[in-house]
Parts: sequence; structure tokens; C-alpha cells
Amino acid sequence: MRTLISFCALFIAFMNGSAQTFNKLTIPDSLHGPNCTLRIADTFAQLRSGNQTITGAINGHTFWGPTVFVKKGDTIRMNVINALNDSTTLHWHGMHLPAVMDGGPHQVIPPGTIWKPYWKITNDAATYWYHPHLHEMTLEHVTKGVGGFLIVQDDQESALPLPRTYGIDDIPIMFTSRRYVANNQFAVQNTAYGDYLLANGVHDAEVTLPKQVIRLRILNAEIERSYNIGFSDNRTFYVIGTDGGLRDKPLAVNRLHIAVGERYEILIDCSNDELGKSFDLMAYNANQLFGFPGGEPAQNGQFGSLLNNKNFTMLHISIGERTTNPVITIPQTLIPFQPIDINSASSTQTIQVMGGAPNSPMPFHFMGGIFNINRIDKTIPMNSTQKWTITNSNVFGHTFHIHDVQFNIIARNGNASAVGQHEIGWKDVLYLPRNESATFIARFVDYADPLHPFMYHCHFSNHEDDGMMQQFVVVPPTEVSEDSIDFSSISIFPNPATESIMIDSRDIDLYYVSIQNVNGKTIMMLPQPEKGVPINVSALPKGFYSVRLTDMKTKQVIVRSFVK
Ligand code: C2O
Ligand code: CU
Ligand code: CU
Repeated sequence: MRTLISFCALFIAFMNGSAQTFNKLTIPDSLHGPNCTLRIADTFAQLRSGNQTITGAINGHTFWGPTVFVKKGDTIRMNVINALNDSTTLHWHGMHLPAVMDGGPHQVIPPGTIWKPYWKITNDAATYWYHPHLHEMTLEHVTKGVGGFLIVQDDQESALPLPRTYGIDDIPIMFTSRRYVANNQFAVQNTAYGDYLLANGVHDAEVTLPKQVIRLRILNAEIERSYNIGFSDNRTFYVIGTDGGLRDKPLAVNRLHIAVGERYEILIDCSNDELGKSFDLMAYNANQLFGFPGGEPAQNGQFGSLLNNKNFTMLHISIGERTTNPVITIPQTLIPFQPIDINSASSTQTIQVMGGAPNSPMPFHFMGGIFNINRIDKTIPMNSTQKWTITNSNVFGHTFHIHDVQFNIIARNGNASAVGQHEIGWKDVLYLPRNESATFIARFVDYADPLHPFMYHCHFSNHEDDGMMQQFVVVPPTEVSEDSIDFSSISIFPNPATESIMIDSRDIDLYYVSIQNVNGKTIMMLPQPEKGVPINVSALPKGFYSVRLTDMKTKQVIVRSFVK
């Protein structure tokens, strides 16, 4: 009898399951700082039946890359190797760091070159990410799948009773969608939306979650689509973190809007779910307000998609056995939130969304002009606190992202009480519906650099590539003197070199060092190398190398050479 019942149960499960088959959610492997090597390369992925898809990924993944874990207070040293056939960049989205380390459009890594940025982690524990940012190529490189999570941990977060076992009860999920053209290749141009959702690079993903409290770190890595998330059984879930930190206490919700580039950490309480029960994480995207990205009715064409204006499954969840030492209650409090004092703002920046209207000759952009890599759009004095208001009297919803800082949204449409409860906290991306404005406050406290700008832009990578991006520099409070500097004493030793070289720059601080081979090809790029730290050249072939050294104060360049 027992066997018969279980046979029937199996048979029914099989019949139900045959309506939709799921694939196991991939959990990216993890890398731990402070030294990390990320090798970006072209590869192939078997994403669905038929041909493999040409993708780009990191460290042997076939889509996306490893999750990098770093600790607040540590100095992280990255070795970014560009093994693509194209130039690219790698941007540390959400990180506070010197502009020259930021990986924006100015930090181009030629193919075959290693870029070695490093910075001290001052960000709070939260879920950040990294992705390519080469101007006019971001859409293509992001579509390929290049990117990864960057998770910051700190003492405050570690002391909380939160799920923290990576891939078991603490799950990073990157959602995006892709459209396929002939032979299973990704559509890139004129494709605002994919037709098929990917969760960590897996179509129709499913995961078994233990019967306890689960933490999901959700990243919207779409080109344009927003997700209005919820669960198929309409359960309450708890927002615990925004882009740049944990909240003061969990916020109970049934729906949560996640726009492109945003991250939300949520808790779901599965402790009372029956073993074997299943339910779905859903995008309730049907019938949103006009201008909602992904609300367009079309099923195909440039702004159409099979997922548009629909409710669809994002992740199929089944409940499995509880782990040892499970978290089984939602904490009452998290991290005290000390917002930036609104009265401390010394100046205001205004940004106006322009262009993109039907028949408009100009793509979406900000007032002042479409992106020009040689034009600095805003100069921000170091040590200032600023209010930025972005106004979108435009036909469509957009996102707004700024590099360098985490901000607090202080008003929507000039109204403090119109700020969503879920977006109170530290943010680096905001959603800007059509015909609305948003105001945030941010502090610009260090890393002055009149030469290397930071970006602000719409995070829809097609809009960004079309020029919906501008740049700002943070300048020191007083001008530095431009006394001429005696470079004659700078030397490189040992020469000939074997394993490593040292640069004796005396009292001159170096802004940039790059190493070229005999053909003039840049093979190593070292922003602001630390004094007295050897540069490892053991991987370079024997030969003659020239070294370009840029002085910090004057930005003068001198050239030295060595033989290996
Ligand atoms: Cu996530 Cu400027 O980008
Ligand atoms: Cu960014
Ligand atoms: Cu936009």
C-alpha cells in the first residue's frame, strides 16, 4: 500500500512536473580577498537545447563570474586580466574608491593586459557587483555575461543573527533575460529586453531551500526591465538591505520593485513550510504604470519581449531539510541608520533627462549633452555634501546611478514622504519613473583627483552606451602647487630583472605606472602603485620593457626601461 501511494505521488509529481521542467540554480563559486585574480575571457555556454551560445565570463565560468568576498577595512588587490579579443573595463559598482581604480570608461584594459587596481574597503557590508563599463561597448560586454557579485562583510553584519552560509541559506541571485537570434546566439543591438529569464545564468531555475529563514541577495542585471517581485503564495517577505548597507530593521512587504542595477537583500521565512512544498519567486510585471520598463505590450521588436507586461516565474523554490544551526526567526533590529543630515548640504546639482522622444533626433541623455569622454560635466569640491535632483519629464522610466558615493534618497517629486519605505537606507541606484523627480543627498569626502572623473548615468546599458551618461571630478579644496619636479633620480632596479622590479621614486608620488613591451603594447597597468612594494614581473617573457611613470602632482610623464 505504502509503495503504491508513493508510486502514485511520484506519478502525479511527474505529471505536474512535465508541464514545466526546471534546471538547478547555479551558485557562483567564491573568491576571497585581499588578493583576487579575475580573468575575463570569451567562452561558450549550453544555455538551452541546440547550439551553444558564445558568452563572456570570468575565471572559467561560462556565464558571469565568481563572487568576490572582501572585508571592510581590508585593502583589496585585484589582478584583472583581459583575455577577450576586445578592450574592456571592469567597474566595481557601488564601491567608494579612487576614480583611477574605479574601472569606468577611462580605465580601458587592452586585450592581453593585466590591470592592477587596489583600494581600501570602506563600504559597509552589503551586496555589490562588478561589470564592464567601456563606453559604447557596455551593452555588448554585459550581454555576453561578464560580471560578478562583490560581497562586503563587516563586524556589525557578522554580529547579527542572519543567514550567512553561502549558497545554502544565503543566496546571491543575478537576474537578467536574453533574446536569441539564429543558432542560439544572444541578440545585442536593438534589444531592450530578453525573452527568456536567466537566474545566475540558468533558464527556468529551481532551488531547494532549507526549512528555515533564507537570505536572498537579489541583483537586477537586466538591460532595462524592472521586476515587481513577490511570491506565488503571496507570502510576506522582509527587506533587510539596500544597495550599500543593511537597514535599521526588516521591512515586511509583499511586493518589491527592483530596477536595473539595484540590489535588495531580503529574508523569507520558510521555517513553517512543509518539507517538499514548492512555490515561486515571481515578477508581477503585468499592468504596471505607463513607462514601467518591461510594461510595453509588444511581444517582439526593439522594445517588445515575451516577458513584457506579464507575471512570470523567476525562481522555482522547493523546501528541503533544515540545516544544523538554522536561523528560524526574523531579527527585530539590524544596523542603526544614521542618514546624512539634510541641512548639511552646501550645494545642489540638477540633472534633467532629455531626448529619446518619438521623432527626437537625440537619444536619451542629460541636459548639457550626450556623453563626451573629454568633457567634465560637474566639478565637486572635496569635503562637500550635496543634494542632487534628477528630473525626468520624459516619455519613459529610467534609472540613475552615481559612482564613488552611497546616497540617501530624501525626496521624490520634492516630497520627503513620497520616498518608498524600502528605499530608505544607502543607495547607489534609484528608479526614476516618467514625469517624476528624485532628490538624493551624498557626501564627497576624499579621493580628490582633477584628472580622472567618476560617472553618473542611466543604468540601462543601451541608454548609457547611447550617451545617457556624464562625468564629475572631485577636486581638492586648494590648488596644489605645480612646482617643477626633478625626475632625474627616479630609477628602476634590479635591471636586468627576474622576478620583480622596484621603482625608486624618492619623494615623488606616482599617479600611474604602465609597462609596455618592445612593440609598444601595454601589458601591465598599475594605478597609484604603493611606494616600496615590488611589482611582480615573473609572468612577463624575457625582453626589453619600457615603463611610463606619471607624477601625481604635475601629471608629467617620464619613461624608464628595464630588461628581463
Ligand atoms: Cu554599474 Cu557606472 O555602473
Ligand atoms: Cu557603478
Ligand atoms: Cu535610461
